[in-house]
Amino acid sequence: MYVPEKIERILYTQEELAERVRQLGERLTSDYGGKNPLFVCVLKGSVVFFADLIRGVRCPLEIEFYKASSYDGTRSTGKVDSKSDVPDITGRDVVLVEDIVDTARTLSDVKARFLEKSPASLKIACLLDKRSCRDERFKNFSADYTGFEIENLFVVGYGLDCSQAFRNLPYIGVYK
Ligand code: IMP
Repeated sequence: MYVPEKIERILYTQEELAERVRQLGERLTSDYGGKNPLFVCVLKGSVVFFADLIRGVRCPLEIEFYKASSYDGTRSTGKVDSKSDVPDITGRDVVLVEDIVDTARTLSDVKARFLEKSPASLKIACLLDKRSCRDERFKNFSADYTGFEIENLFVVGYGLDCSQAFRNLPYIGVYK
């Protein structure tokens, strides 16, 4: 297996990720059957999770992409940079798909932008949640579908990066 020197240990293997993502897909299938939801991939980190997740949802759906970021290397900048326009979501059942919630600044900002466009409903699916790292302002923020809650670790792989590297690792690893 390819484990770069900067990876201290593997937190979730490819198999563990596949099983958890499959379970989330089952829940989404039962919650969205008959609704034609719009799944929105929050770029770039959620791209791998998104691709696996939507293939586990067994009902008609559509997809969109939205680019937002607030990280620089291994640190949150505290400033959310939204680089896309919010797609037309009026009256749609929207599921925002994110890789990880940390301070929750990014998703709180993205969620507010999406809610301004009057979706019929808006839910959030995220693979990882660092609950203990919430910004005080967003301490009650939680996703509707969460893969795993993790401690305050910097992790990479399965789409998550450190300065754009390691997104291609098929597992989630702890960065040294
Ligand atoms: P938040 O705004 O602090 O919740 O940060 C969310 C964003 O920061 C995520 O979409 C990631 O891009 C990035 N991020 C937070 N923690 C990590 C991590 O452990 N590894 C890689 N990216 C992270």
